[in-house]
Amino acid sequence: MSAEFPVARPRRLRRTPALRRMVAGTRLHPADLILPLFVKEGIAEPHPVGSMPGVYQHSRDSLRKAALDAAEAGVGGLILFGVPAVKDARGSAADDPDGILQVALRDVSAEVGDAIVVMADTCLDEFTDNGHCGILTESGEVDNDATLERYASIAVAQVRAGSQMVAPSGMMDGQVGVIRAALDADGFTGVPILAYTAKYASAFYGPFRDAAECAPQFGDRASHQQDPAGPLEEALREARLDLAEGADAVMVKPALAYLDVIRRFRDEVDVPVAAYQVSGEYAMIEAAAANGWVDRDRMIMESLVSIKRAGADLILTYWATEVARRL
Ligand code: PBG
Repeated sequence: MSAEFPVARPRRLRRTPALRRMVAGTRLHPADLILPLFVKEGIAEPHPVGSMPGVYQHSRDSLRKAALDAAEAGVGGLILFGVPAVKDARGSAADDPDGILQVALRDVSAEVGDAIVVMADTCLDEFTDNGHCGILTESGEVDNDATLERYASIAVAQVRAGSQMVAPSGMMDGQVGVIRAALDADGFTGVPILAYTAKYASAFYGPFRDAAECAPQFGDRASHQQDPAGPLEEALREARLDLAEGADAVMVKPALAYLDVIRRFRDEVDVPVAAYQVSGEYAMIEAAAANGWVDRDRMIMESLVSIKRAGADLILTYWATEVARRL
């Protein structure tokens, strides 16, 4: 036998499915997954979202059903987004106790109880007539500090309606701190905050704007969301600030194009790291699969495993229920 034949053979551990399963370094678990759900005010039947096949703007009834399906599949959490019938400059429906998101939080809490973590996205873009994430100045800029007061009030309304966790997503400076203070003052010291910490100004949010009906009527979100080309340290600074303000978990968003940021967070912070596989990530796989160009199921699992391997403890994904059933 010639000395050229390898003694070390990495292929040995790849030979059978049982071997591969045993040595797998990355395992997805249903409890790691969080399902985003959209609920629209005043509709009797769910509306399909054109750019996200398989995703719906739910009616109150179909939302309850979707929440129950997720809970039964073992999904870890739900995050609700509301689409109100009436929008205005202040996003008044966002903290109205009878606003669609609060109504939905009560519905879902009654339906699934404690079987799954029910949370709310805390932001204004679904509720403002201009589609921006906050209160605008006369010149049309998002006014950071005026917006903070709104976020504090919205978070309290959401928690009063049954949200077990809140997730501020507007990228206003100081948002975690004001929400923490407002919740504490209202007696909700035990309600955790999942901060959208490193949220990039991303083209991958395109389809979400159909689902949540919140495309900005003018301008964009580049003045407050992070620049994709910005330094990695900027994301770490956001994490330090959010943690100092009391964040209980930090999020990176989108996921697949920001795996390096997820890994840095996992190495540097001592709280759970979440990653949001956003609407555009969902749409591109679904669209390619609909054309027969890719193996849909394998691509979904591979994308999720990659996000987990990069360091995400939690993954927000529109495929949560389907994947939880498959696991
Ligand atoms: C803001 C918010 C957005 C998403 C989640 N929360 C939109 C944005 O920042 O423009 C995007 C989610 C997705 O694309 O799936 N409320």
